[in-house]
Amino acid sequence: MKSLVVYSSESGNTRKLAEAVYEFLSGDKEIATVADAPDPAGYGFVAVGFWLKAGQPDPDSQAFLARLKEGQEVYLFASHGAAVGSVHAENGMKKARELAAKAHVRAVFSCPGEVDAKIIETAAQKNPLPPWLADAPAAKGHPDANDLKMVVRMLMELGLP
Ligand SMILES: Cc1cc2nc3c(=O)[nH]c(=O)nc-3n(C[C@H](O)[C@H](O)[C@H](O)COP(=O)(O)O)c2cc1C
Repeated sequence: MKSLVVYSSESGNTRKLAEAVYEFLSGDKEIATVADAPDPAGYGFVAVGFWLKAGQPDPDSQAFLARLKEGQEVYLFASHGAAVGSVHAENGMKKARELAAKAHVRAVFSCPGEVDAKIIETAAQKNPLPPWLADAPAAKGHPDANDLKMVVRMLMELGLP
C-alpha cells in the first residue's frame, strides 16, 4: 500500500509532526506540503497534518481533506495554540473529521504548537479575545520530543498503515 503524508505549516510546528510521521512509515512513501500535494486517489494510507486557524483546520488543509476518498485509511494530526482536550481544540478536530468523512479516519492526534509572539500580540487586541489565547503561553516549546513520540505512537498502536 502506498502512503502519503501531506501537511500544512506556516511556522514549522506541524512540519515537525509530519516529518516524524514520515520517518516512521515504511515501504513506498511520499511527503508533500499541501500546496504541492498529489491527487490522494492513488494512495491507500494518507496522513494529513494541519494547524488550527479560527478554530478550524487551516483553509488549504480543509480543501485537501475534502478530496480524500472512500476506502482510504486516514490519520489526522494537528498542532494548535489551544490546550489539548479544550472544547476549542476538540471542535477543530471534529471539523477535520467531518471534512474527511468520505475516507476511513482511523486515528486523530493533536498537540500544542508554539504561537509566534507577534500573533499573540495581535490576538490580544481582539474583542472578544480568541478562545485559544489564554492557552497560548503554555504552547511554547511545542511540539516537543514527547509530542513527536506520541504522534508516532498512535500509528504504532493501531498498526497503521
Ligand atoms: C493567523 C493564526 C490564527 C490562529 N488561530 C488559532 C485558532 O483558532 N486556534 C488555535 O488553537 N490556534 C490558533 N493559532 C495557533 C496555531 O494553530 C499554532 O501556533 C500552530 O502550531 C501553528 O502551526 P504551524 O507552525 O505548523 O504553522 C493561530 C495561529 C495563527 C498564525
